[in-house]
Amino acid sequence: MKLLFAVFLGLLATVSSSPVKSLEQDFVEYSADLVEKINLMNTTWKAGANFARETAASLLERFSTPGLSLEKAPKAPIVKHGRAGALPTEFDARTQWPHCPSIGRVHDQGRCNGGYALSAAAAISDRHCITFPGLHWNFSAEDAVTCMTPTIGLDGCTGGYSSDTWRYWVQHGLVSGGGFNTSSGCRPYAYKPCDHYEKGSYGPCQARPSSAVCHESCIAGYPVHYTADKRKGATYYRTGTDETDIQREIMDNGPVNADMTLYEDFFTYRSGVYQHKTEQSMGFHAVKIIGWGVENNQKYWLCVNSWNSEWGDKGMFKILRGTNECRMESNVHGGKIYR
Ligand SMILES: *[C@@H]1O[C@H](CO)[C@@H](O)[C@H](O)[C@H]1NC(C)=O
Ligand SMILES: *[C@@H]1O[C@H](CO)[C@@H](O)[C@H](O)[C@H]1NC(C)=O
Ligand SMILES: *[C@@H]1O[C@H](CO)[C@@H](O)[C@H](O)[C@H]1NC(C)=O
Repeated sequence: MKLLFAVFLGLLATVSSSPVKSLEQDFVEYSADLVEKINLMNTTWKAGANFARETAASLLERFSTPGLSLEKAPKAPIVKHGRAGALPTEFDARTQWPHCPSIGRVHDQGRCNGGYALSAAAAISDRHCITFPGLHWNFSAEDAVTCMTPTIGLDGCTGGYSSDTWRYWVQHGLVSGGGFNTSSGCRPYAYKPCDHYEKGSYGPCQARPSSAVCHESCIAGYPVHYTADKRKGATYYRTGTDETDIQREIMDNGPVNADMTLYEDFFTYRSGVYQHKTEQSMGFHAVKIIGWGVENNQKYWLCVNSWNSEWGDKGMFKILRGTNECRMESNVHGGKIYR
C-alpha cells in the first residue's frame, strides 16, 4: 500500500513538473517556463509576466499575419544625411526637444495590429514639432490604418508595413488625430487600450477587429473638413543600415520608426537591453526609436513601443545596438516635413 502510494505521488510529480503547454492557456502560463529560462540565463535583460488576460493563441494570431513579412516589405530608397563629427555616447530625443511631448508618449494599439501606423504617425508628429517648435499636431494613425491602400490588400488592423505609412503620408497626407476617446483631432485612434501586462488596469484585449473602415470625414464637432485637414510629407526614405546613419538621422531630423522581427520572448520583456533568446519568429512589429545609450557595457537603442505604459519598462524598451538585432537596423524609416 505504502509502495503504491509512493508510485502514485511519483506519477503526480512527473505530471506536474512537465505541464502541457497549450495555446489556449493565457500567455503568462504559456510563457512561464520561458520567463524562468531567460532570467536564469543572466543575459542583458529581464523577463516577466505579461499578457495575463489573453490566450497565447489570440496574442500570436494578432501579430503574425500570413502573407506579410519583413522580406516582402516594400523598400523605400535609402537616403543618408551627412552629419560629420563625433556622435555622443548617449542621446534622448525627449531631452533634446523638451517642448515636444509626443516624443515620449506611449500609445496603445489595442486589439488592432496597427503598430506600423502608430509608430510612423508618432515619429511624423515628433518631426513636425521639431521642425516647427511649439506647433503640436498629432498625425492620425487611424487614418493610415483604415484609409491607405495596403501593399497586399489586407485590412489595416491585420497588419501592414511602416514604409507604406510614410509613403501614404507623402502621397496622400494624413489628417490629425489623437489617442482613443480623446476627441482630439479629425480622426482619433478607434481601438481602446487593453492589458498587455499581468496586472493591467485596462481590461482584456479582444479579438482583432474584422474590418477597419475608412471614413473620409472627421469626428463630430471637429471644425475642419477631412480633405482640408490632410497634411502631406515632403519626402520619405530608409536610413543607411549602419548604426551611425541611424544616429545621425535621429539627431538631425528626430525619431525614426523601425520594423523588427518579433520573437516570442519579446512579449515577456520587462527591463534591460533586449536581444532575442528564442528563435521562433512570430512575424514582425514596428516601434519608434528615440535615442541610444550604453548600459553595463551594452550599446542599446532606446525605443517606444505601442502596448501602453504598463508593458515593459513603462512602455519603453532598450535593444542591442550595432548588430542589427531583430533586423531592426536594416528597416529604419524617416521622412521630411514640408517647411
Ligand atoms: C551575472 O552577470 C553579472 C554581470 O555580467 C555577473 O557579475 C554575475 O556574476 C553573473 N551571475 C551569474 C550567476 O552568472
Ligand atoms: C495629441 O494626442 C494626445 C494623446 O491623445 C493628447 O493628449 C494631445 O492633447 C493631442 N495634442 C493635440 C495638439 O491635439
Ligand atoms: C470615453 O470618454 C468618456 C468621457 O470622458 C467616458 O465616460 C467613457 O467611459 C470613455 N470610454 C471608454 C471606452 O474609455
